[in-house]
Amino acid sequence: MKNLTSKQLRQMWKDFYKEKGHAIISSASLIPENDPTVLFTTAGMHPLVPYLLGAPHPAGKRLADVQKCVRTGDIDEVGDSSHCTFFEMLGNWSLGDYFKKEMIAYSYEFLTEKLGIDKNRLAVSVFAGDGDAPRDEESAKLWEACGIPREKIFFLPKSNNWWGPAGQTGPCGPDTEMFIDFGHPCGKDCSPACDCGNYLEIWNDVFMEYNKTADGKFEPLKQKNVDTGMGLERTVCILQGKKSVYETDIFAPIISAIEKLSGKTYGKDEETDRAIRIIADHIRTATFMIGDENGITCSNVDQGYILRRLLRRAIRYCKHIGLDSKKLSEIAKVVIGNYAEIYTELKTNAQKITDEIDREEDRFEKTLQGGLKEFDKLCHYLVGDTISGKAAFKLYDTYGFPLEMTQEMGKERGLKVNVEDFQKAFAEHQQKSQAGAEQKFKGGLADNTEVTARLHTATHLMHRALKTVLKDENANQKGSNINSERLRFDFTFPRPMTAEEIKAVEDMVNEAIKADVPVVCEEMTVDEAKAQGAVGLFASKYGEKVKVYTMGKYSKEICGGPHAARTGELGRFRIVKEQSSSAGVRRIKAVLE
Ligand code: SER
Repeated sequence: MKNLTSKQLRQMWKDFYKEKGHAIISSASLIPENDPTVLFTTAGMHPLVPYLLGAPHPAGKRLADVQKCVRTGDIDEVGDSSHCTFFEMLGNWSLGDYFKKEMIAYSYEFLTEKLGIDKNRLAVSVFAGDGDAPRDEESAKLWEACGIPREKIFFLPKSNNWWGPAGQTGPCGPDTEMFIDFGHPCGKDCSPACDCGNYLEIWNDVFMEYNKTADGKFEPLKQKNVDTGMGLERTVCILQGKKSVYETDIFAPIISAIEKLSGKTYGKDEETDRAIRIIADHIRTATFMIGDENGITCSNVDQGYILRRLLRRAIRYCKHIGLDSKKLSEIAKVVIGNYAEIYTELKTNAQKITDEIDREEDRFEKTLQGGLKEFDKLCHYLVGDTISGKAAFKLYDTYGFPLEMTQEMGKERGLKVNVEDFQKAFAEHQQKSQAGAEQKFKGGLADNTEVTARLHTATHLMHRALKTVLKDENANQKGSNINSERLRFDFTFPRPMTAEEIKAVEDMVNEAIKADVPVVCEEMTVDEAKAQGAVGLFASKYGEKVKVYTMGKYSKEICGGPHAARTGELGRFRIVKEQSSSAGVRRIKAVLE
């Protein structure tokens, strides 16, 4: 096995796929646009969903990248030696181009020749087959042809070897997963499905050959795709022969900064190590969230709330190791320095990152001590083992303790929190303060004034008008940014628009404004939205409902809002600029006068 640094592995990945005729695309933003159903980009395939569904990608049919990802489902697990909230996913895609044969050969070549993994240390799993799709003998045979013996090829059910769809319907298929086999199976039935630790997953190749329909059927896809994902952190950990990702070159400089600033040493006692890992992980993730091209700041909703939770949890753990939390922005500087060459946005936004961390530290520091005292008192007088929703809400409202933090602190003392009552108290408070659900919005809106809501409504009308005028249903939103002066909209389109086309789009939007139709918001499932022809990405979480905004016959789009009540409120719409944004992407700036 080659002992590669993270930098070498990234480069090797790109070089390998370039050599195999792939276009190397850059990482998309961590904050998905046009998708109200997920907060962060969670996999390399996520920003590519429209292309996996058949839209032509401007860079071609073979793509590879290193994608920034955040998964926050298990924030509270972070602290053990394997979980991270931020990670980089090495990925490659065939959009209706090559399929199993080439992909399995590429995988074998990369693992054995590039990473130098002994083939005897590899095991793979393939789909066992069920009523929906047949046993994947083809993949098994291809692995055998590479030299993986039958006994190292495991046939596993859907729960292990099937990926997707990302929403309720859409592309999905069997996958084949690759594992390092440590050679100590726990028994004769031991397999990669077993959690004894003998098999460590290193790579996942998804063969998207089915489309799951609304009635739950799996029909063959016209465009068969390959979607693969390899976690950079985990692979580096294996290659560097470390027990934990926190011991790799990715975390080493961050951990040593924490050691220096706290005077504590990593690797001596478990409690200290846990706190150090929590701080290292959370500050790394926060740095990427704030420093992203669509960077966010702390708030009480959506992405901003996750950021707040991460920073406040890091601040609390500073106390465990006697680290002055005012120094957290110093740790962020180390993260920035570490990644600046690869993710230049961190360098560009360095000041914003450290300012936001300092600001949040300042805010929380003011109430943290009081809150901790209140919490102690509460536990002292508690009867039973459940902290009331009202008490948890007071900690949230008065002392800024995220609910999850109160839950975690409670757990340390063997206590639960009545979450249902917390939510009731929260809802009551929201109603009183006239804030509430209507304040909740996404989609690149900078502030929530009436002006920006009107510009947002205009964005929808323009999005539809662009598709119609340019006769291109793939003229899709790539990005949206609104301030009180103007809207800015990026969309996929291969050439500059003509003056006539710009005029036609303006006319169409102004016609919709003149018609003064109401803006109607409905909640529905992604299937229903799709059936009604709504615009927007359909990569929603399973079973989740989305909001769809309809403006008469002029627009129907999945979106988080907010919007004007009627199109008539908008005034006159004018495009002030149409220019290139990046390869295959155009940018429009427009105003309402
Ligand atoms: N989508 C698959 C995953 O997330 C492969 O990229 O593992």
